[in-house]
Amino acid sequence: MGMSVTISVATEQDTEQIFKLQYLCFQSEAALYGNYRIDPLVQSLESVRQEVAADCVFVARLGEEVVGSVRGRITEDGAASIGKLCVHPRLQGHGIGARLLRAAETALVEERGAKKFRLFTGHRSEGNLRLYRRVGYQTVGTSEGTDGVPMIILEKPAEAYVATA
Ligand SMILES: CC(C)(COP(=O)(O)OP(=O)(O)OC[C@H]1O[C@@H](n2cnc3c(N)ncnc32)[C@H](O)[C@@H]1OP(=O)(O)O)[C@@H](O)C(=O)NCCC(=O)NCCS
Repeated sequence: MGMSVTISVATEQDTEQIFKLQYLCFQSEAALYGNYRIDPLVQSLESVRQEVAADCVFVARLGEEVVGSVRGRITEDGAASIGKLCVHPRLQGHGIGARLLRAAETALVEERGAKKFRLFTGHRSEGNLRLYRRVGYQTVGTSEGTDGVPMIILEKPAEAYVATA
């Protein structure tokens, strides 16, 4: 099944599918924290559209259907912030999330000169933490999301990206 899923740069026409997909995928996170106001659930369609236009946004496709997405952008301190990684619940556990993450990292290094990648995840999201640690991220701190959920901050130097390529 994973074989027929392709990863590519998101286009403007993907905006609505990305918007709907993230709403579906982040329900499990909302349930885990008992908080349905987390950023991916309250983000507007227009805001998603702006990210697709400005950021490094990738989608995983199965035929015409968008089944996964991720975004990345360079922040003020020069680190690349990667976020809203999501895969359709019926297709999780086949490596699509890891492939999307890899695509975002590659583009952020090659097209935007990222020296370091940064990710946030909820402190109780064990599966996410396992995935990020497996591909080389380490905890560097904690923060409180605007939605009140305690977050763990993970980083990986871009050299580690080259070393594991
Ligand atoms: C986080 C998320 C994007 C991961 O996507 P995914 O496609 O399931 O990720 P992967 O398949 O690469 O990895 C997940 C698991 O599948 C396993 N896996 C990967 N490829 C596999 C394969 N071919 N066969 C069997 N298992 C496989 C991985 O080892 C990993 O196992 P683990 O949970 O025991 O560590 C997805 O779970 C999701 O959308 N979650 C909700 C939204 C969310 O929380 N996003 C992250 C915000 S920080």
